[in-house]
Amino acid sequence: MADPAAPSTAPSSPNAIDVALADVDARYRDDFAKALDEQALREANARFLGRNGALTAALKEMGKIPATERKAAGQRVNAMKGAVEAAFEARLAGLHRAAREAELQAPPFDLTLPGRAAPRGHLHPVTQVREDILDVFRDLGFVVAEGPQVDLEENNFTKLGFPPDHPAVDMQDTFWVKPPKGAPDARVLLRTHTSNMQVREMSARKPPMAIVSAGTVYRVDDDPTHTPMFHQMEAFYVDEHVTMAHLKGVIAAFVAKLFGERPVRFRPSYFPFVEPGVEVDMRCTFCEGAGCRLCKGTGWMEILGAGMIHPVVFEHCGIDPEKYSGFALGTGLDRPAMQRYGIPDLRLMFEGDVRFLEQF
Ligand code: DAH
Repeated sequence: MADPAAPSTAPSSPNAIDVALADVDARYRDDFAKALDEQALREANARFLGRNGALTAALKEMGKIPATERKAAGQRVNAMKGAVEAAFEARLAGLHRAAREAELQAPPFDLTLPGRAAPRGHLHPVTQVREDILDVFRDLGFVVAEGPQVDLEENNFTKLGFPPDHPAVDMQDTFWVKPPKGAPDARVLLRTHTSNMQVREMSARKPPMAIVSAGTVYRVDDDPTHTPMFHQMEAFYVDEHVTMAHLKGVIAAFVAKLFGERPVRFRPSYFPFVEPGVEVDMRCTFCEGAGCRLCKGTGWMEILGAGMIHPVVFEHCGIDPEKYSGFALGTGLDRPAMQRYGIPDLRLMFEGDVRFLEQF
């Protein structure tokens, strides 16, 4: 597009140059005054001083005029150039000043107002219960161990004495995972309980040992009281002369710390990796034994599974069952969290809805 400010015929005599200068002189003040922001001003400036500007064109003509007049004409062009440049700078400074002025006139920004508080989060209810339980066992001298959620069948089942046809090993209960590339025969699964930690730790350490571990476990289950992913903790103590009295003492301390001192009872039960095996109840925390809806009228609440570690498990882990004995206990973390906070549906805990989680 032709620049409207550029002269259509190039000035080739001093007179033509003076005509061009008169034209610039007539326009530049107005053009700059009409520019209302920096970009418009720079565009206007370019029409005079830019590569295709009127003054630049006039300077290029200088070679064509007689040498005797060149110097004087050059001085007139340069004087005009200086005037345009000065006017541009003055207008630019004026625009900057106006912008700053407008900023200062705008509604005040009060730096002393208090900031908007960032909402503070907290630990998930299950994590709170997990930390409380780990604390109890730490205080009793247990060492906290971390374990994987994906493990081998031998750690989760076989070395714990589960026979291959045990219903827990079945596809219906267990998430089996494809074996890794380098080991096509490995039997890999999402651990179904934290008891895998017994095998892993007992195979890696020498007694005496007191270990506690908590984490995520998986079973093919889904209803208001069962989710495919849930949480458990496991604790075990192996040494010479460990008896069920030690087990009962630890459980009593555990219950006292978490629920307040209250009676505890053992009922015989079966788990492949303990002998004898027990289920442990505590006096109901709601009715204190009178019988209520929560304890189904029995006055007792089931809290964990436990027992004396089976000699076969020791043998599988390279520990001499003639010399050592030990107890193990394990329980879910989700049910105590539901009981503590009165949560009716387990699935609510894992939907990640902040409106729910904020309540605890
Ligand atoms: N692993 C068992 C389960 O998932 C819980 C359990 C029972 C753990 C008895 C133990 C135990 O250590 O001795 O139901």
